[in-house]
Amino acid sequence: MLVLGIESTCDETAASIVKDGVEIISQVVTSQIDLHEVYGGVVPELACRRHMEVILPVIREALELGKVALEEIDLIAVSYGPGLIGPLFVGIQTAKGLALALDKPLVGVNHVEAHLYAAMMSSLTPLHFPALGIVLSGGHTALVKIESPLDYRLIGQTADDALGEAFDKVAKMLGLPYPGGPEVETLAKKGNAASFSFKAGQCKDNPFNFSFSGLKTAVLYALREKSALDLPFKQNLCASFQRAAFTDILHKVEKAAELYGISTLIFGGGVTNNQALRTLFEEKCPHFHKLWPSKTLSLDNASMIAGLGFHVYLKEGKTELMSLEAKTRIPFKSCV
Ligand code: KG4
Ligand code: ZN
Repeated sequence: MLVLGIESTCDETAASIVKDGVEIISQVVTSQIDLHEVYGGVVPELACRRHMEVILPVIREALELGKVALEEIDLIAVSYGPGLIGPLFVGIQTAKGLALALDKPLVGVNHVEAHLYAAMMSSLTPLHFPALGIVLSGGHTALVKIESPLDYRLIGQTADDALGEAFDKVAKMLGLPYPGGPEVETLAKKGNAASFSFKAGQCKDNPFNFSFSGLKTAVLYALREKSALDLPFKQNLCASFQRAAFTDILHKVEKAAELYGISTLIFGGGVTNNQALRTLFEEKCPHFHKLWPSKTLSLDNASMIAGLGFHVYLKEGKTELMSLEAKTRIPFKSCV
């Protein structure tokens, strides 16, 4: 089954053709970094306009690269949220228009669930469920119990900033370009993580929830105390910030895995590109089966949307055109 995936939740416009949920025939992603970097973050109105300009050329390119004609597509899958309302509308209306014109079925896909499916679709070994899903992206930070690729229960989520967002804000404070995650990682490589005793926040209502806003403020205060920011200072600051955030995630993952008797960890989202994060988990959790997305599937892309869309269609059938709406938030089902 050939699935055309469409992704436009934030600042990437993407289209992919994926066969039977796993085989990527073509993948096209256009990033809007050039548009937003002067503002240090995504400007929704600008993002929406850029999606409108490029979405049809991006879909056309994915078809051409895959040597697939529109008529050969069996299913259209589009992310319907969570994300920015304007950008979501562009993807959804385009998908609906194509589905109507071509008389093809359409399914709506949850973008956050697709981030976790990204690692599953690159896995060559059979998966054992339940698994623990760890979503670390620019817009979302969540721990979920995965019963199957279509059944997720929330264990914990961020009470304030998403982890990628915290990286981007720290980078902005240091005058680094957007998106800041890779920049912070590069500086952190040469820094001493023990230089600052930073700690991520704890949430009284749920020990598995995350809080990174206090950590971000601690970085701001450390910066204010210094009149001139030399390179070693920045490197130490980034290394300490990064270590504090990742140690917090590690501890919560270990506790949740123990509580729910889970031995498989499935990672998703842009922050999982960070090598220090991967090394920390490889060193501290050698006994877990760990699934990491490849670099092309960790950042926003439409292959994960087409891949998961295939399973949604097999299980639930097509989504009625009139009932598919953009959703800025989609809460997970609770674990308890
Ligand atoms: O998953 P993603 O493409 O977008 C969302 O769905 O939000 O993730 C983008 C986020 C940005 O915040 C970016 O700074 C962060 O992932 N990121 C990283 C790294 N690469 C990307 N954060 C830390 N270290 C990295 N190497
Ligand atoms: Zn994403």
